Amino acid sequence: MANGKLDPKDWPSFRDAAHKMLDDALDKMETAETARVWTAPTPELIDAMSQPLPEAGQEIAAIGEQLTDLLPFGPGNTHPRFWGWVHGSGTPAGLLPAIAMAAMNANLGGRDTGAIHVEKQVLDWSKAMMGFPQDASGLLVSGTSMATVIAMKTARDAMLGVKTRKTGLGSHSLVAYTSAQTHSCVARAFDIIGLGADTLRLVPCTDDYTIDLGALRKMIADDLAAGRSPFALIGTAGAVNVGAIDDLDALADIARAHDMWYHVDAAIGGAAMLSDGLRPRFKGLERADSVAFDFHKWLQVNYDAGCVLIRDADAHYASFNERPAYLAQSARGLSGGDFWPVDYGPELSRDFRALKVWAHLSHFGTKALGAAVDDNHRQAKLLGQLVDEAPGLQLMAPVALNIVCFRATGQGDLDKLNNEIVWEMQESGFAVPSTTVLNGQTAIRINLTNHRTRDRDLRALVVMVQELAEKLTAA
Ligand SMILES: Cc1ncc(COP(=O)(O)O)c(C=O)c1O
Repeated sequence: MANGKLDPKDWPSFRDAAHKMLDDALDKMETAETARVWTAPTPELIDAMSQPLPEAGQEIAAIGEQLTDLLPFGPGNTHPRFWGWVHGSGTPAGLLPAIAMAAMNANLGGRDTGAIHVEKQVLDWSKAMMGFPQDASGLLVSGTSMATVIAMKTARDAMLGVKTRKTGLGSHSLVAYTSAQTHSCVARAFDIIGLGADTLRLVPCTDDYTIDLGALRKMIADDLAAGRSPFALIGTAGAVNVGAIDDLDALADIARAHDMWYHVDAAIGGAAMLSDGLRPRFKGLERADSVAFDFHKWLQVNYDAGCVLIRDADAHYASFNERPAYLAQSARGLSGGDFWPVDYGPELSRDFRALKVWAHLSHFGTKALGAAVDDNHRQAKLLGQLVDEAPGLQLMAPVALNIVCFRATGQGDLDKLNNEIVWEMQESGFAVPSTTVLNGQTAIRINLTNHRTRDRDLRALVVMVQELAEKLTAA
């Protein structure tokens, strides 16, 4: 029986506390449909989380109680009426690998462990899902933001030479392009890797919110004429505001014609590669030099889990590999192994998130996950239709994939009205939509990456928005 300094003194009562915690977690997930969607942190909770650094500890049962008390205070994305931003809804099955992960306490930076083979397996599956060759490389990361940093650094070093890693950037004339609808994480990646967010040109979109290919070609020509060096093109496979899908194949052609690195942000759309019906709309994604996507969004793995894939494994390795003597790979023993994730990203100590992705894909299989994507796509179309037919509501953008943007119309300040409608729905615990601004107008934004949403939730939403619009306008 383990009896280290921090092991339980009384294993049987520790087991009881652990089993109770598991039951409480299962209760939360089993009753996900009945609770409020979001509950603001209460004064009691804030007080409980504002205590001085504890000198003396508490019994594990007391900690368990506090953890259970915290369970209702997440964002609410386990609830069928959570539609804000782009949050996946998770599964109870995610609890099992979370327990196994904690028990193994594995550090996935490298070395010859069974855990590393789980990550290799998940990466091979990811390549198959995205239509990438098996000799591509990749890494599991916290999410698409980090995946984008890794992809863009690799692109930068491939373009400027790996000497940049030592000498820094110096002056350069690099420019890159992406649609004005691309997620802010791409500009942040340019900032983080030292190229500066202004290096990234935001190309205007057409009426369907996809990148305007004519405008892109003109910007490239203008930059070339001015002596600048176009080096990267970033396409969006499901844009964050409205879910628009760029013409990924045309972007691949343009990138190839100008010898640019072609990256695709598939944070949302990557999941749709599992849908036979939707996959053709992402044609061209498989031609990318790199792709970033998330398991924690539309693929429903419990937070957090994203992935970067890079076609040129050598370029990926050259951009991150750095092994001092104390991390040298050996021919035998624990320091062996042929895949050290530290060679492919900035982190040495790494979470074993591969385990939950492996368990999730193994448990559900791609068919069921693709079917959940298809169902949300169908529901987005349904909601678009319900809004179209509802008096006093107006659709703000075409429904491309899984996101519906609309607003209540009428008299007065409609931006204020629609913001207030969303806050009312959140604060009453009824639903969590978020908002965005399209063409200068506030829209209620419903993102469907939720396998628990039922059609009746969407019908109730439409009625609720109409009622709140009437009530708030009257007030
Ligand atoms: C299209 C798109 N790209 C990138 C991101 C950033 O992803 P993450 O939050 O996993 O870092 C998001 C997040 O919603 C997104 O919608």
